[in-house]
Amino acid sequence: MKSLLIAGFVAAGLMLGGAAHASEAKANAAGCLKCHAVDKKKMGSALKDISAKYKGNKDAAATLTAKLKDGAGHPKSTASDEDLKAIVGWMLTL
Ligand code: HEC
Repeated sequence: MKSLLIAGFVAAGLMLGGAAHASEAKANAAGCLKCHAVDKKKMGSALKDISAKYKGNKDAAATLTAKLKDGAGHPKSTASDEDLKAIVGWMLTL
């Protein structure tokens, strides 16, 4: 029983890790990681700093996705809406 429980936790952990990894790969494919890194400043802010800045802002995901799509005050992104949503959602969890 105990080992089953542990196996369950490990599987859940792998799934969570897998989702984060998939979004990071999308961010990389979309070119975001050329100018942003997760935890250090490059040309753009560290993604963790951006996430901290928008903490508690419930419109953050929608605002940022729109900003990236329209290229308003930011290099316009050519990633699909779906990918942008996934990337922004992932960023805001950092
Ligand atoms: C050509 C370089 C470049 C690329 C490519 C790039 N960014 Fe940025 N990004 C910047 C700069 C410069 C800023 C402005 C300084 C800052 O706040 O980090 C910025 C700011 C941001 C912000 C904060 C906006 C705000 O209003 O506070 C977010 C979110 C963001 N970028 C996400 C992304 C995502 C997601 C991608 C990929 C689709 C991406 N960036 C690709 C350079 C880039």
